[in-house]
Amino acid sequence: MPRRRETPVTRAVRPRSGVSEAGAERWVTSAECGTRAGTRRAHPQIRAGAYAGRMPPTTAGGPTPSSAGGGAPDPDDRAWRQLLAGDEPSCAQLAEIYTPLVEARGPFAVAQLGQSLDGFIAARTGDACYVTGEEDRRHLHRLRALVDAVVVGWRTVANDDPRLTVRAVAGANPVRVVLDASARIPAASVLLHDGAAPTLWLVDAETAVETQVGAHVRIVRVPELRSLTPREILAVLEARGLSRVLIEGGGVTVSRFVGDHALRWLYLTTAPVLIGDGVPGIRFDGEDRLADALRGPVRRFPLGADLCTEFTF
Ligand SMILES: NC(=O)c1ccc[n+]([C@@H]2O[C@H](COP(=O)([O-])OP(=O)(O)OC[C@H]3O[C@@H](n4cnc5c(N)ncnc54)[C@H](OP(=O)(O)O)[C@@H]3O)[C@@H](O)[C@H]2O)c1
Repeated sequence: MPRRRETPVTRAVRPRSGVSEAGAERWVTSAECGTRAGTRRAHPQIRAGAYAGRMPPTTAGGPTPSSAGGGAPDPDDRAWRQLLAGDEPSCAQLAEIYTPLVEARGPFAVAQLGQSLDGFIAARTGDACYVTGEEDRRHLHRLRALVDAVVVGWRTVANDDPRLTVRAVAGANPVRVVLDASARIPAASVLLHDGAAPTLWLVDAETAVETQVGAHVRIVRVPELRSLTPREILAVLEARGLSRVLIEGGGVTVSRFVGDHALRWLYLTTAPVLIGDGVPGIRFDGEDRLADALRGPVRRFPLGADLCTEFTF
């Protein structure tokens, strides 16, 4: 993947926002947002309202319903809606964090994981509720709202039975994609029946699927699915018009995309907790020399008690 250049807009707002380059020590909480008028000019793609048409009727007006997501209302709801609608966001920090994704040209994949300080994304039982806090959940839902498709490995569906919809913030649901060569997700999985968003269940061409699914689910038979590289999987999705893709988990799936250099961004949020043993986060064939380890330009921003590190590859 080509390395992305930082935009002038991003550089211009850095000194006054809560986002910090590695090593910087100045943090600002998101509570500051909403009181500070945005000073940046929106990118043409934002001004054109690239995301406006994707707003679902349930969230297009009024405050984002907290009951829909079971969490607190989005304190930056107004600025977030401005960003989605292509207007000048009234929160510089929101603009700074998400402008690179909004402005991104061409197809891209971005990944997100919430992990403990010792590198686990769930307990050894698979319990992942919740490693990181409310603000990281909101960040994840913002990412969902900015992509065409959200991808998970089958074990995440089997363990978490997730909905993968946008509930904690305003925005439209992405297409849901499950990588499941042998069709092992439970027949009762919520995303197979809830009708909440189009869902692609990717299975191997040889796999027989007996499960009854909702009309929103398409079973996509991919020859040799298990042997496809992540880049090839992205090509399969792009051929279906899904070019902005969020890889949401779990550790095996995100690690394969990292190892294949298939990501443009990786968001790793670390929570101040030690799990000790559990489901590992990022694991891939590393380098023998630390000097050759995968590094990228990083930005860091606090999400409540958690710390999110954004890698740009
Ligand atoms: N904290 C967080 O941010 C977070 C996020 C998501 C999930 N989780 C937790 O993570 C755990 C599950 O993660 P996990 O690492 O065990 O498994 P996973 O990543 O959910 O699923 C792994 C499986 O997905 C399939 N797969 C992945 N990449 C593929 C590819 N490129 N091509 C084809 N198939 C692919 C493979 O299935 P085959 O075996 O069929 O080859 C692989 O074994 C759960 O406990 C869940 O709660 C935590």
